[in-house]
Amino acid sequence: MAAHSPRIADDPDAAFYKPADEFFYDHRGAALTYDDVTLATLYSEILPRETNLETTLAERLHLQIPIISADMDTVTESRMAIAMALNGGLGLIHYNMSERQQLSEVSRVKNNIHGLIQEPIKIAADQLIGDVIDLIDAKRFSFSTFPVVDENEKLIGLLPGHVVKQRYANRKVLDAMTPRAELQTINEREIGADPIARADRFFNEHIGIHKLLVVDDEDRLRGLFTLSDIERITQERAAQLKPARDEKFRLACGAAVSATRNSTGELDKERIANHVGALVERGVDVVAVSTAHGHSKGVGETVRLIRELFPELPIIAGNVTSGAGVEFLADCGANAIKVGQGPGSICTTRIVAGVGVPQLTALFLAVKSAQKKGVRIIADGGISKSGDIVKALTLSHAVICGGLFAGCPEAPGQIIEINGKPYKQYRGMGSLAAMKAGSAARYGHERRDTARKVAAEGVEALKEVSASLDDVLTQLVGGIQSGMGYLGAANLNDLREKARFIRVTPAGQRESAPHDIVEVKTGSQ
Ligand code: XMP
Repeated sequence: MAAHSPRIADDPDAAFYKPADEFFYDHRGAALTYDDVTLATLYSEILPRETNLETTLAERLHLQIPIISADMDTVTESRMAIAMALNGGLGLIHYNMSERQQLSEVSRVKNNIHGLIQEPIKIAADQLIGDVIDLIDAKRFSFSTFPVVDENEKLIGLLPGHVVKQRYANRKVLDAMTPRAELQTINEREIGADPIARADRFFNEHIGIHKLLVVDDEDRLRGLFTLSDIERITQERAAQLKPARDEKFRLACGAAVSATRNSTGELDKERIANHVGALVERGVDVVAVSTAHGHSKGVGETVRLIRELFPELPIIAGNVTSGAGVEFLADCGANAIKVGQGPGSICTTRIVAGVGVPQLTALFLAVKSAQKKGVRIIADGGISKSGDIVKALTLSHAVICGGLFAGCPEAPGQIIEINGKPYKQYRGMGSLAAMKAGSAARYGHERRDTARKVAAEGVEALKEVSASLDDVLTQLVGGIQSGMGYLGAANLNDLREKARFIRVTPAGQRESAPHDIVEVKTGSQ
């Protein structure tokens, strides 16, 4: 038998399971992605539930979990961003909408008070109960108690669910409602920093009352707490991760911006400056200059402009897949750089343009430059399971997911039923339909070009409707924590330091997934 190299004799594990620098250098002739490698398990004293997933993407951008929802028009609007922040992550509101609309989506997130229904459905005193029944049927409401307001939004009563009956269809709301004088309310100024605790206390003190109405100084209706929401939230709270908040205790929220050009093809600096200024006024925590090719003049100028005008504002920029790209955007003033060209589940950039690099190799090159420049790396796209996130986090500070969240009820879009199965639309921002709706600049096209034929770099697809975002994130976070437990990593820093890689073959990949069985239930069901 041939003599072993001294390294194998001394430490066989070290000869096979390599740290990132050695591993990726050894494989420099090939571009690798998540399924091409696996992580070696290491001695551990860490239980998964003891791991800490906090991550800092900029001095003023701190998340409790390293997961961001993609700035795509079928993934992140205010509802998704609120749910992401409540779970400790971040949502990036997409820009395939008017600037005004994007501002109001950001405001919705920043003004959200968990548990408080801020825009309750209201009715008028002169409506008939029959009208209210029709409204419930038409909108398929699952509740039947409604605040009653006058033309100035002033609270004048509450229509209780037990009178919303066909028997009373011809009676006026005015005759059946509980009048204002008998209603329990609180002023919005009394809500305080912990609205759930405040509402919980109220319901404890007022036996039998299930609705708490919130009013302003003029007695205008400002919101509504319901006992069932508060009970659900207090139960979940024990298990839930801490929300991601700003220093004023508001939920964290990001917004995507593009390198907008004017009619002569030049960067529209004034428009970008005004838009980002308005986002900052609304309290946005980070802007993401999101394009398909971040290592380009227009994106660099946009980042520079935002950095000059808003020195404190955290900036995410991308996308790139090279060390040079990372250094360029870092020099322009970005704090965190998105890495990913063509890995996304709806992307066709690699097929259409023949460019892009599989994620792990791209992340490795990016992180080497990021370390030099003191910026963060975000792994964007191509993540289909929690194990991919663990691998991505060995080289980056956070991940961006689109497809994993597009089937959640919190994602925008209607449910479509096909053969009795519910689906939601999921489309690439470089698909023709999305570019027509406004994202053409991201792919370097003029919006009006989309009337002609431009090469789409994404597809339109469907995702099966999935569980709620809370449930999907619980599974993903559980998976990340498991991975960290196997590596003995107490936090993400440890994970990056301890990770040891080895290449897997196609046979190894087959072995990694369930095989030679008839699957009756997936792990997460
Ligand atoms: P996943 O795999 O999570 O990927 O669905 C989401 C990411 O894909 C990128 N993206 C695109 N890339 N053509 C592309 O080449 C597209 O049409 C497209 N749309 C989105 C984006 O980085 C997103 O976060």
